[in-house]
Amino acid sequence: MVSAADFACIREFLRRRSGVVIDASKGYLVEARLLPVVRQHRYTGLEVLFGRLRQGGDLALERDVLNAMMTHETSFFRDKSPFETVKKILPDLLQRRSVSRHLTIWSAAASTGQEAYSLAMLLGEHFRGLLAGWRVRILATDISDVVLERARAGSYSELEVARGLPAEYRQKYFVPLLGRWSIAQDCRKMVEFRQFNLTGSWQGIPACDIVFLRNVLIYFDIPTRKAIVERMRTVLRPDGCLFIGGAETLLGVSDSYDRIEGVGCGYYRPKPPR
Ligand SMILES: C[S@@+](CC[C@H](N)C(=O)[O-])C[C@H]1O[C@@H](n2cnc3c(N)ncnc32)[C@H](O)[C@@H]1O
Repeated sequence: MVSAADFACIREFLRRRSGVVIDASKGYLVEARLLPVVRQHRYTGLEVLFGRLRQGGDLALERDVLNAMMTHETSFFRDKSPFETVKKILPDLLQRRSVSRHLTIWSAAASTGQEAYSLAMLLGEHFRGLLAGWRVRILATDISDVVLERARAGSYSELEVARGLPAEYRQKYFVPLLGRWSIAQDCRKMVEFRQFNLTGSWQGIPACDIVFLRNVLIYFDIPTRKAIVERMRTVLRPDGCLFIGGAETLLGVSDSYDRIEGVGCGYYRPKPPR
């Protein structure tokens, strides 16, 4: 178990760098997640890691600590219902965009890429014809460069594809490669990966039609959630749709959005200005 002082050090580091807040009950997690970093850097123990972290200036260590402390849990078509909802709302949205013929989707805490590739597969499966000649952009961002590297590689284990991916999608959109499953080129081509901190500068984020901001707000405190959700209004088109995680809510976070019932889940649309 880490000492109270070391816990305070890592808590402050995480909050400052990513907005992620951990409470004291997560002491066990800190040790379990940082011991591999201790081994990686060939330190003699956690106390050396914390010493270096306090000293500051070791960018490689800071990057490894940040990556290690994040929760990257994800899966293909996670929770299903947001994807069913996108399938249902897209025909109307595409109709509204029939002049510009641009569609932009943002997976704003993309982890290892399953969410963004699920959206690419959904478009390929159900909207290929309708989207012929369109400029479709799926932007996938995450604060962690390690998960983004994995996402870009688009190579998944048997276990990862067994979680949530229908067997026929595996046949259609993946190729077996060196004992793993590699996402097919036409899906990979649709997704653009970029490192991005939700609590940093939002420069370069395009106007979005659909945003998946799922299972990341829970790691922030209320003021940070509020700030992110308000900023989201500046990039979400007025008729755009925001999806958050099944265990997340905008209640007490923002009343600038209307909640709309989808297929087995709700999604949010910016309220029109009064
Ligand atoms: C639990 S995963 C969610 C993955 C996917 N959205 C899903 O629902 O399956 C949370 C991701 O949020 C990322 N994250 C945490 N803080 C972040 C921040 N400040 N900016 C961008 N991404 C962040 C983590 O690196 C992690 O990959």
